[in-house]
Amino acid sequence: MSDSDRQNPPAKLRLPDIAAMRARQQPIVMVTSYDAPSARLADEAGVDMILVGDSAGTTVLGGTSTVPVSMDEMLVFTRAAVRGTRRALVVADMPFGSYQPSEDVAVENAIRLVKEGGADAVKLEGAGRTITRISGIVEAGIPVMGHIGLTPQSATLLGGYRAQGRTADAAERLVREAMTLERAGCFAIVLEAIPALVAERVTSAVTVPTIGIGAGAACSGQVLVWHDLLGLSTGAVPRFVKQYADIGSAITRALRAYADEVRGGRFPEDVHTYGMPDAERQKLEERAAGPTVK
Ligand code: KIV
Repeated sequence: MSDSDRQNPPAKLRLPDIAAMRARQQPIVMVTSYDAPSARLADEAGVDMILVGDSAGTTVLGGTSTVPVSMDEMLVFTRAAVRGTRRALVVADMPFGSYQPSEDVAVENAIRLVKEGGADAVKLEGAGRTITRISGIVEAGIPVMGHIGLTPQSATLLGGYRAQGRTADAAERLVREAMTLERAGCFAIVLEAIPALVAERVTSAVTVPTIGIGAGAACSGQVLVWHDLLGLSTGAVPRFVKQYADIGSAITRALRAYADEVRGGRFPEDVHTYGMPDAERQKLEERAAGPTVK
């Protein structure tokens, strides 16, 4: 953080700022974050929106899907990310099971993410039945981001983690879903793993920003998962990921160097160690030598 940033903290982005970016065709940058230090780094890098994604279920909690992520876990991640953020708009994912049972349950849980977690907005996957949940949450005064295409919470139903909207019918369905999400009050829509042409059609069919992940360059903005972007993911990453750094290898190198130095007696050095006033050291040494015989 620069001195001038410390003195004049950047203004917090609000929904009209995001809408204005779309209107002037200024690409919107979004990244996931699940804790305070990563949110602070994203914020300082000028990222516009932070997504506290339920991808935390795989990236942070080490699971194989996002389905088991709970509201309590999302609240911990959200609170931490919010603490690290000053400028970016923070969107918290509503985890699987937190909005499906009824509109009341959806509104109650969205309120928790805003009130207890400090999120600026929430994100829900799907259209169809999700629409009534979205309208309910928007009516309660909470901004909602939609998410269509590959919706990981229903990956089993979609036949796995695979691109969506690849037939003319499916593409048209996505356009209709996006329009329905906009009518329900979504302020932005994530488009995941769909052909670039379809994302372009969706983007021109709605007035709210579209945020692509594996949806080509015609979207109003892009989102990537923190661990994928920085080389912290284990296993294969989807083809739409661009890895901008290899932080995982840098961490492994640093940890190996630390382990070598501890085992070789080279860490800690004097500079990492606390001293004692001479008089106290002398007193301690005299006591260790035993009582003086008079
Ligand atoms: O949970 C998440 O990280 C997401 C992104 C993949 C959009 O929903």
